[in-house]
Amino acid sequence: MPDTDSQATIRDCAQTAIRVIADAGSDESKLRAGLLDAMRPLVARDDLLTLGVKRPGNHIDNSKYLYYDGQLSITLDEFPNGKYIPPHDHGVWEALVVFKGRVRHCVYERVDDGTVEWHADLKTIEDREYVPGEIAMVVPPTEIHSFTALAEETYVVTVVGGNYKPIRHYYNVDDKTYVVSKPAALAPA
Ligand SMILES: [Fe+2]
Repeated sequence: MPDTDSQATIRDCAQTAIRVIADAGSDESKLRAGLLDAMRPLVARDDLLTLGVKRPGNHIDNSKYLYYDGQLSITLDEFPNGKYIPPHDHGVWEALVVFKGRVRHCVYERVDDGTVEWHADLKTIEDREYVPGEIAMVVPPTEIHSFTALAEETYVVTVVGGNYKPIRHYYNVDDKTYVVSKPAALAPA
């Protein structure tokens, strides 16, 4: 049996995250560092994979709510090894804290002026790998990312600071095109 007395509760971590969000305001680096601190006790839990309530993921099959209050959501998501999640936007910030495995995460800036329908030119501004205990993040206006799990049993705690916008864009970097999609779930990932 896990020693639950000595482990941080999901509520503790969520409450810390809520304070971090209020304190950080528009300071992105403060938000990033604070969210990682807030989630660190959660990803240290040895029973993390047993927690949560199943939800419909937008890109993946195994996704569970750990916390949702209408403004903040924290989910536990399994990224299938090698599955490329294409570039997409969100309308809100999204943070990925790696629990197990390894993730390649790319962030893009849209450099066209948006006036040509179905055309989008993305410039890569981040392309790096993340390992357990690290946080990847996108924050509007730079809020387009793609990711790929690079190991079996890659799990990520995803923190989202609000509900996704109802219409989202999915981009093809090479073709310089996009499609629109209505997500299955209004929260992550
Ligand atoms: Fe995302």
